[in-house]
Amino acid sequence: MLRLMRDPNLLPSEKQTLLSRIAGQAASMNMPCYLVGGFVRDLLLGRPVNDLDIIVEGDAIQLGHALVKKHGGKLTPHHKFHTAIWHMTPDTSALRTIDLITARTETYLRPGALPTVKPSTIEDDLHRRDFTINAMAIRMDGDHFGELLDPLNGQADLEKGVVRVLHPHSFIEDPTRIFRAVRYAERYSFILHPSSFILINPESLAILKSLSGERIRHEFDLIFSEERSFAMLLRLDELGVCKIFDPSLPKFDQKYSALLDSITPAELGISIDRVMLGYLLWLMDSPSHVIESLSGRLDFTSELTKALLAGVHLKNEMTSLKDAKPSTWTFRLEQVPLQAIYALWLVSGEPALKEFLTKWRHVKSHTTGDDLKARGLPPGPSYKEILNQLRAAWLDGEVHSIKDELQLLETLIVDS
Ligand code: CTP
Repeated sequence: MLRLMRDPNLLPSEKQTLLSRIAGQAASMNMPCYLVGGFVRDLLLGRPVNDLDIIVEGDAIQLGHALVKKHGGKLTPHHKFHTAIWHMTPDTSALRTIDLITARTETYLRPGALPTVKPSTIEDDLHRRDFTINAMAIRMDGDHFGELLDPLNGQADLEKGVVRVLHPHSFIEDPTRIFRAVRYAERYSFILHPSSFILINPESLAILKSLSGERIRHEFDLIFSEERSFAMLLRLDELGVCKIFDPSLPKFDQKYSALLDSITPAELGISIDRVMLGYLLWLMDSPSHVIESLSGRLDFTSELTKALLAGVHLKNEMTSLKDAKPSTWTFRLEQVPLQAIYALWLVSGEPALKEFLTKWRHVKSHTTGDDLKARGLPPGPSYKEILNQLRAAWLDGEVHSIKDELQLLETLIVDS
């Protein structure tokens, strides 16, 4: 374990330094301090760790204040949850914030509700967790540095490649764990242990169905952030998860799976969020009414809903636009969010979409509204019309120089 903890490929040295500062402070306060959850799991798997999940047996807020006093920064305490966020200065760490959490037990007042928490021991804290592979801790303070706590045999399950819940009510207490189980199983190519698999049943699915749209959408967002999103969605579908939200929800089309992983060409000049692209590819072929109902059910952001609906409408118009002039394409595409155009280009390969993204959208007339005003044209809707016609002429190759544009402008002003 010590070797893994000191491996800079798994844990960059700046994180190691930060951890030893926290561990040193906790030791001086006689506060047992642990790294838990995904950190331990990924370290044991020999994967670089992302989150530093720190738990103390004691008051995490008190520890936070002591760290701020010694190393600077600011503390945001959350007294209700016995947690604190330490906002560090750039001198302390390149990481901006770190969560400090008090070991706790959780009780669920009703299935699917968010739990109530009470300070407790690390053992209890590990027992409240989702899967054995996430229920291990590494102690950090003083002479205990590097000790593994594994009361639920998580290490053995990691070695066997098994995702296993800690108790039969796990998916009922928190049915979002169904999504989590699928994410871990597909991410690590593990299997869901049969005793856990049978717990994904009509009872737990009914509770999952009752959760707020926001909680469920968050789980789908996490799926689309993963490399193997397609395999995860397929698995959720096989488990009957997707159809409980909307029976008309389509399967993620396998032929779009590679598109999600493709690198956006730099020449397009757009950056697209993988999560949004995931939803666009998933729902691109659905009718608008399915998108509208799903958007309400899963509490999609208005940005996402708008992109989805605009993308679907555009897709339906693609045949009629096929041989249209560049200006017709451009004026139509300007009503569609760039992400939706990009997704449709990935799916259809339509060259006009790429032309729009790389070139047409940047084409403007040289003449401006101010120029029209200077020529004594009374302001009004004719400004837009004239400027659009000039722009269309550039787009469609009818003018090639400023001189051409000015000639065209003269005729447009006479006609206006
Ligand atoms: N956890 C849980 N039940 C949940 C969510 C989280 O028991 N519904 C616990 C797990 O022990 C998990 C830890 O909280 O390891 C941290 O949760 P999270 O950050 O979501 O997961 P990670 O383990 O960090 O995994 P990932 O790599 O997916 O972020």
